[in-house]
Amino acid sequence: MQLEWKVGYTTGVTELDDQHRHLFSLFNDLGRLIDQGVYDSPEVDALLESLGTVVQQHFAHEEGCMSRRCCPMAEKNKQEHDQFLQLYLDFQRAFSMEKSLDSLADFHQTAGSTLMEHICFVDIHLRNCVNPGEN
Ligand SMILES: [Fe+2]
Ligand SMILES: [Fe+2]
Repeated sequence: MQLEWKVGYTTGVTELDDQHRHLFSLFNDLGRLIDQGVYDSPEVDALLESLGTVVQQHFAHEEGCMSRRCCPMAEKNKQEHDQFLQLYLDFQRAFSMEKSLDSLADFHQTAGSTLMEHICFVDIHLRNCVNPGEN
């Protein structure tokens, strides 16, 4: 599965939109490796690490933005971020003990669609709380 960026995903905060695009690109890099049947390699491990780091930095930044602007979705946003992080941590723990292409592909599919839905149904509510192009 490849994640495709659409204008409809815009939050109105340039930095957050850039971070979302960066996350999509990391997911797509991982997707390409999976399509080639690669799962037990330093490249996959490094991508998963980066994904975790970038996601955590993004979540912290976005939660700050929502809370400063008193966005009505701030609490739901934080809840879904925590669930996503749990999904990531559970997968990382299991994958570090036993690697398989199926489990990696499964995580990629679930985490990718969860992220996309989250952006569409939660993050974009920031649009109503900011002026265009704000950081
Ligand atoms: Fe979010
Ligand atoms: Fe986000």
